[in-house]
Amino acid sequence: MVIKKIAILFSGEGSNLEKLLAALHNQVFEHCQIEVATTICNRPNAAGIEKSRSYGIEPLIIDHTLYGSREAFDEALVEAIHRSGAELTVLAGFMRFLTPYFTQQVKAINLHPSLLPLFKGGNAIKESFDSPMKIAGISVHYVSEELDGGEIIAQRCFEKSEGMNLEDFEAKIHTLEHELLPETVKNLLNRN
Ligand code: GAR
Repeated sequence: MVIKKIAILFSGEGSNLEKLLAALHNQVFEHCQIEVATTICNRPNAAGIEKSRSYGIEPLIIDHTLYGSREAFDEALVEAIHRSGAELTVLAGFMRFLTPYFTQQVKAINLHPSLLPLFKGGNAIKESFDSPMKIAGISVHYVSEELDGGEIIAQRCFEKSEGMNLEDFEAKIHTLEHELLPETVKNLLNRN
């Protein structure tokens, strides 16, 4: 059985990290077994750290505040990812801009809480909620040099319902994310 290794990068709550670990780590599929080779977090107090530990994976903390430049931080990330042997890196709530140093050396996908190319950037949920659009959704895309601008791999959408508040809206986004991200990673790797 071919083992395919992934790296997961996160910054905060880690709910998507947890869903990825539950659905994929050491799971056997038709064409491969997926192994989460490393988890990496840039914030030493992130709640997701404990979630990773609960799956027996001690996260690597690479604190961006300890690096003098974005490139120096990205160098540390790239080195750790390459060392892990991961062939695919999954950004699951990883809240840092990445430089070309990273994007040119690492094959990575990102989860974004809007229907790209709409509502790029760090305020996507609120902007999408406040927009006059009747639908909203989520995207998984390849990471490129352009923020939230790489090729779209998969999306899910839903209708905004009457009386939905921001909290309900966010919960709906997370529910869809928790299904789509593991499914997309599996589909990308479980091939001949
Ligand atoms: C998710 O909603 C993800 O789409 C978003 O951060 C959240 C992380 O939640 N990512 C971005 O906004 C990237 N620009 P989690 O820590 O519970 O997985």
